Amino acid sequence: MKDFPTNKLKGLTTPFYFYNIDLLRETLNVVKQESEKYENFYVHYAVKANANPRILSIIAANGFGADCVSGGEIKAAIKAGFSPDKIVYAGVGKADWEINLGLDAGIFCFNVESAAELEIINELAAAKGKIASVALRINPEVKVDTHHYITTGLKENKFGINLDKLDDVLDMIPKLSNIKLVGLHFHIGSQILDMASFVGLCVRVNDIQQKLYARRIIVDHINVGGGLGIDYSHPEKQPIPDFEDYFAVFDKHLQLSPNQSLHFELGRSMVGQCGSLITKVLYVKEGSVKNFVIVDAGMTDLIRPALYEAYHKIENISSDLAEEKYDVVGPICESSDCFGKEQYLNKTQRNDLIALRSAGAYGEIMASQYNCRQLPKAYFSDELI
Ligand code: LLP
Repeated sequence: MKDFPTNKLKGLTTPFYFYNIDLLRETLNVVKQESEKYENFYVHYAVKANANPRILSIIAANGFGADCVSGGEIKAAIKAGFSPDKIVYAGVGKADWEINLGLDAGIFCFNVESAAELEIINELAAAKGKIASVALRINPEVKVDTHHYITTGLKENKFGINLDKLDDVLDMIPKLSNIKLVGLHFHIGSQILDMASFVGLCVRVNDIQQKLYARRIIVDHINVGGGLGIDYSHPEKQPIPDFEDYFAVFDKHLQLSPNQSLHFELGRSMVGQCGSLITKVLYVKEGSVKNFVIVDAGMTDLIRPALYEAYHKIENISSDLAEEKYDVVGPICESSDCFGKEQYLNKTQRNDLIALRSAGAYGEIMASQYNCRQLPKAYFSDELI
């Protein structure tokens, strides 16, 4: 209960996202401090994790770059104050207008995912008389221990250029006069807590760089994507991920050439723990085999449990009565609209406020209007009266 200003939250219309801005700022400070230990490390915030305008503007004001995956994200990032020359743009399906937007804005680089895309970027850049800076997104074929829906770096995933096609793509580049190859891009997946996965990525990148050196290619930068996980089980115990350890892994295991810079695209680890979804109990329903807490938030507000069977810690922030066991479910007409089965909550009654923790990343941004519901609002700890 102590983590939430329950009295101030009580008067607000539920469900809503509540962001702890002090925690966000502290987290950003740690990311800055730990990445700036290395003079050539640069962090781009992965906008997909949370594009709430206030959150974006706080991150932009801290000097981070942005990692975007759509024209909409590029617009949101620029509007929030991110400098276009710190924007990287990835995605397997960039539409022409999105590429043109990136070219017009003068973004840092396009992370290119196929030979076909490379040709189109070259054409569109030529039409504008511009040179597009590109990094090749390579599918590193590194397996990580995470949910199969959020692995990205395997041969069967749609992302990136397969290693066995890399030579063909490199052969194309000298013929494309409006393309400048500036980097290599990788991303192995998300919610990764085992540092050995990142070591595996470093080993693979070193290997690929050797292949490029053999062809006399040295790119300006390496981008290792994002993926650092957070502790969903104990949000209060480790509110800030171990960025020190994370950056140290890359410093230790990745062999950069002199003058090469190293870029990161961190999403979840920067914003995950600062957000909670706050919802009100509508009914406590006694079933014959279990009791249900029915809340006014549903999978439309936070889809991760329904979509990935993801765990979010659930707390009753209105009650300190002894704990009881409940299934916590939403009002949507889908059986998967369940936030947690057999969860221990302080004895719960109608109108209690429930917090679904660690929802700052891939929460608000993935909300939908299914069942004609309204999108959840957002409130910020430093703006509550
Ligand atoms: N870079 C690329 C190329 C990515 O695909 C992603 C995430 C990131 C960076 C940021 O990864 P992060 O640091 O946040 O792990 N909706 C899912 C997660 C999807 C992640 C997609 N890619 C979830 O709720 O768990």
